[in-house]
Amino acid sequence: MTSILSIRNLEVGYGTIAALHGIGLDVQKGEIVTLIGANGAGKTTTLRTISGLLKPRKGEVTFNGQNISGVKPHIITGKGVSHVPEGRGIFANLSVADNLELGAYLRKDKIQKSEYDRIFSLFPVLKERIKQNAGTLSGGEQQMLAISRALMAKPTVLLLDEPSLGLAPQMVQTIFRVIREINAEGTTILLVEQNAHMALVTAHRGYVMETGRIVVSDETKALLASDRIKKAYLGG
Ligand SMILES: Nc1ncnc2c1ncn2[C@@H]1O[C@H](COP(=O)(O)OP(=O)(O)O)[C@@H](O)[C@H]1O
Ligand SMILES: [Mg+2]
Repeated sequence: MTSILSIRNLEVGYGTIAALHGIGLDVQKGEIVTLIGANGAGKTTTLRTISGLLKPRKGEVTFNGQNISGVKPHIITGKGVSHVPEGRGIFANLSVADNLELGAYLRKDKIQKSEYDRIFSLFPVLKERIKQNAGTLSGGEQQMLAISRALMAKPTVLLLDEPSLGLAPQMVQTIFRVIREINAEGTTILLVEQNAHMALVTAHRGYVMETGRIVVSDETKALLASDRIKKAYLGG
């Protein structure tokens, strides 16, 4: 089987400091793959490199068999890879509607009403908030908006960086439910999380990252059952 997204021997650094020491990762079409690991492990660096925000020193990222390493971020988005960054990156002074519209700015086709309907069925509260400035939304609602904005680009692959960070437990459940729904509708997902338990029960396969290296990868069922993973990431 060929991967839709593939990373080979990727080395990325900040100045003289190496953050990724030659990592490899594959995502097949239709999967939810999670990348878990402690703070500082290199998860965000990995996603930022895939989406073209960071240039690798070595190695490559391929999307649909095409090498996209070093390609500009808007070109990568245009090819079908959307990134919901850590901290969400919405425009606080713009309305919910304007944020959604901006998510589609690279598209040549017009936004269909059915796309808004889909988003409002995933996140009904966004319909009530449509005219409000995004900055007035709660943290959970901002995360919903960030995911929805990324969907407006009609991505083939969605990169999610810590979507549950800082959210109340019930909101975390909502976000993960929607991640499963988006995937069930056909979008491939690479999910970065510190919430290892939620990530592993949601994803099909997982990679565990420690200080810039992938140390384990397996089906999530196996990771959830592993003593090493339980001890290090699942609280016993
Ligand atoms: N802008 C930056 N400048 C210098 N070092 C950075 C920068 N961003 C991240 N790092 C370092 O790179 C490593 C990986 O960070 P990051 O990818 O953000 O990890 P994670 O997302 O897993 O918490 C850490 O050691 C972090 O301190
Ligand atoms: Mg991070």
